[in-house]
Amino acid sequence: MQMMMAGGPWLGPRAIELIDLVARWAHVIAGIMWIGNSLLWNWIDRSLVPRADGARTQTPEPVGSIWLLHSGAFYYMEKTLLAGAPMPRRLHWFKWQAYATWLSGFVLLLAVYWLGGRAAMTDPAVADITQGMAVAIGAGGILAGGLLYEFAHRAIAPSAPRAARLLWIVALSAIAVAFTQLLNGRAAFLHVGAMLGTIMAGNVVFTIMPAQRELVAAVQATGTAPSVASEASTRAKRVSTENNYIVFPVIALMLSGHYAAVYGYPHPWIPLAILVAGGASVRHVLNLRFTVPDWRPRLALTLLATVAALYATLRDGARARPAAAATAASAATAGPVDFADVRHVIDRRCGACHSSAPSDESFGAVPAGVMFDTPEQIVAFAPRIQERAVVTRTMPPANKTRITDAERDLLGRWIAEGAGRVP
Ligand code: HEC
Repeated sequence: MQMMMAGGPWLGPRAIELIDLVARWAHVIAGIMWIGNSLLWNWIDRSLVPRADGARTQTPEPVGSIWLLHSGAFYYMEKTLLAGAPMPRRLHWFKWQAYATWLSGFVLLLAVYWLGGRAAMTDPAVADITQGMAVAIGAGGILAGGLLYEFAHRAIAPSAPRAARLLWIVALSAIAVAFTQLLNGRAAFLHVGAMLGTIMAGNVVFTIMPAQRELVAAVQATGTAPSVASEASTRAKRVSTENNYIVFPVIALMLSGHYAAVYGYPHPWIPLAILVAGGASVRHVLNLRFTVPDWRPRLALTLLATVAALYATLRDGARARPAAAATAASAATAGPVDFADVRHVIDRRCGACHSSAPSDESFGAVPAGVMFDTPEQIVAFAPRIQERAVVTRTMPPANKTRITDAERDLLGRWIAEGAGRVP
């Protein structure tokens, strides 16, 4: 299931690494442009000063204007529905940021998880499934989540918006929990992020853009915006608000791969739920700040509650790991660990990737820059070896080199004894 098997030598590990680098670069830049834009528009829309004469146009939508200061000049911006004024010759639309973010994200998903084999989709300690099954589950879950969301919006929301929202939240939560029960923890978090990101981009393509085209067409045909908001524009407003709430959780999920203690928690859906709920709640308070005077203490409380919940989870995770507990117990009874044994385990179970001359390059040359060639390097990384191989058991990825519990235990005991001796 790796690109290099399907293609010639031009899709070897170096080519995949290059695709990973370029696509990630594009993804982050496009994502910043999309999210930055949409946060700014959201802020402008909520900060508009209504027209002094209190005039309203044909629609119930308030119009207004705002003064802004940026890099040495004043900017005046007015929100209008044109009301008889001619359609401007140049009208700027914002859509490529969203499309580019999704497309580069899809390439990354292929290069890193689905085909390129740069990160593990499976984990034998979670579920005994093949790479092919894991990809089918990941892709199927993302597709199912997107379709369920669309269905709730088109079929249910027009008559019962709250029921629709409840339905998609429950459905997406179920898919997210299923991911954590079947996939590698790191992959599960990323796939929930990809599902939410796909829904956001889908909202732009399938709802927001069509509604804007409809508005432009109506203004061109009649000279005025439609007096009653159409079904499409009501839905566009709704999904763009939902995008606004989804964005903070998505960012947390996309970055979660750096935090083994988070996705490696024994019940990963708990920290996942905290990241999603925390992100959406912070966004909610930031939206409230335009109408609720005491939003500051609310924001502080929301941030504090999120961080406290994460802290409690991480602390509990470090304690709950059976291996870590067993290690502490056996350290008391067994004799001191011989460094030669530690080195043997590291060579056998880690050296394939973490070496200056790795034999397994599918994860990229020298993953995370960590090499275990010399005793000094091994000793220097002792705390991270403890975290990744003993406590969270997120190394080796998918236990590719089949490290045993006894070997993890040995590493844990060596570290518990101080791990300071370089022979
Ligand atoms: C099949 C390849 C592979 C094997 C085998 C492997 N690793 Fe890794 N390792 C990776 C990759 C990929 C990363 C970067 C991604 C990540 O951090 O999850 C990494 C990152 C790390 C890091 C740095 C990130 C951090 O959290 O500090 C440490 C430490 C580490 N591995 C320890 C180990 C240990 C200890 C073993 C052996 C028990 C091991 N690895 C076996 C692929 C491997």
